[in-house]
Amino acid sequence: MNHWPRYAAVILGGLAIGGFLIAASGIVPIKASSGHWAITEWFLHFAMRRSIATQSLGIEAPALDEPGLVLKGAGHYETGCAPCHGSPQRPPTFAEAMTPRPPHLPPRLSEWSPDDLFYVVKHGVKFTGMPGWPALRRDDEVWAMVAFLRKLPSLGAEEYRWLAYGENKVALTERPEATPIAVTESCTRCHATDGRGRGAGAFPKLAGQRPAYFAATLEAYARGERHSGIMEPIAAALSSAEVRELARYYASLPGPAAMRPDPATARANERGKKIAEDGAPKQRVPACVACHGPSSVRRNPAYPVLTGQYADYLVLQLQLFKAQQRGGSGYAHIMRRVAAGLSVAQMRDVARYYASLTPGPGFTVENVVNKAMAPRSRFVPPDPTP
Ligand code: HEC
Ligand code: HEC
Ligand code: HEC
Repeated sequence: MNHWPRYAAVILGGLAIGGFLIAASGIVPIKASSGHWAITEWFLHFAMRRSIATQSLGIEAPALDEPGLVLKGAGHYETGCAPCHGSPQRPPTFAEAMTPRPPHLPPRLSEWSPDDLFYVVKHGVKFTGMPGWPALRRDDEVWAMVAFLRKLPSLGAEEYRWLAYGENKVALTERPEATPIAVTESCTRCHATDGRGRGAGAFPKLAGQRPAYFAATLEAYARGERHSGIMEPIAAALSSAEVRELARYYASLPGPAAMRPDPATARANERGKKIAEDGAPKQRVPACVACHGPSSVRRNPAYPVLTGQYADYLVLQLQLFKAQQRGGSGYAHIMRRVAAGLSVAQMRDVARYYASLTPGPGFTVENVVNKAMAPRSRFVPPDPTP
């Protein structure tokens, strides 16, 4: 009779019990400060690389050279990644004390394909402290980070600073003493000192937005009901008093100037205007102006202003609504139905049209600040004053 299987079982059982007793005794150091043994480190890296290479098969990268994507990625890198990985303008804050140590990324990045990077940034790496993306539905944001990581190795400190912070950290309003601290400390970096974004459609314009919508959408980010790996952590850190203050502050800034209509897109603009004013009845899409203006009708203050907003941002939000990936306030379901009927071409047309408008009546500082905080008033008869 062959006794080997029985011996093997006894030996393995003995090792398992021994291992358990050693762990139970507490003599195994789990401290992060001393690092891994070289062999453990090699093995963990090997397993990570193999896993990423296999798991990222089949992921398809979009065009990654869009300036808007790089800008958006840079804005988040500074707060979400640089504390561990460092950046061209500062060393990491607490990498020294971690096991494994978060690597200095530039020399590593060329080893990964965009799909691999997408996988690492979206899902993080178990047992290392490398976190996953906070909003798993937002693949577009993860790609923005990948687009930035591809540029990172070639960036000097000055270029990096400009990408991550913009022109000027200090808010340049006429009343700097009335500027909430959160604006100068944080929001300005991405939404710019005048609240009009930083170009390329990476960050939405906030200037002149209606305070009721502004506060509701920040609260939705904070609760995780509007999904964004970039805005959710920022909103979650604000108190309700700060949200109200920020909503009032941004509403008081002059609304964005219209984008100059491009003669080459005049036809698209006409098509967009028609959708905004009449909707697309065959596709059961209602007229946008009923809720978003411009119109002389007083509208629910929880409906956002779209005039002068970046067309790329508007298209992205419509696509997210259509894909059921954008939540928001208690009214967000309205937009999911509206967007479901629109084709991508129609989204572009109507977005371009809104981008080309100057904020009209119903969107002046006086109206927004004084009326928008008033109780909800839907579809009241047109204002008789011109
Ligand atoms: C809490 C610290 C921490 C934060 C925050 C963090 N990382 Fe990491 N990251 C790590 C650690 C630790 C590893 C190392 C995994 C390993 O090599 O074992 C890692 C690995 C990586 C890698 C793989 C590098 C390689 O070749 O091994 C990439 C790429 C990366 N991180 C990008 C990012 C990006 C982009 C962000 C921001 C969205 C980010 N990380 C945020 C800790 C962090
Ligand atoms: C790191 C860059 C970054 C910073 C800093 C930042 N934001 Fe944002 N913000 C974004 C991005 C990107 C979006 C669009 C997110 C999306 O697609 O949902 C956004 C969206 C918003 C929106 C929604 C706009 C709309 O029309 O629906 C509000 C409101 C907002 N941010 C307010 C703030 C405030 C207030 C601060 C400062 C406390 C701030 N943001 C700081 C990047 C940033
Ligand atoms: C019945 C009212 C209603 C109609 C009609 C409507 N919307 Fe909306 N829309 C809303 C509401 C409410 C929100 C805010 C949802 C939230 O985030 O809570 C919104 C949000 C949006 C946003 C996101 C804005 C931002 O700053 O993030 C876009 C873009 C948009 N609508 C476009 C359109 C277009 C284009 C049409 C016409 C085809 C349209 N809407 C018709 C009510 C409406």
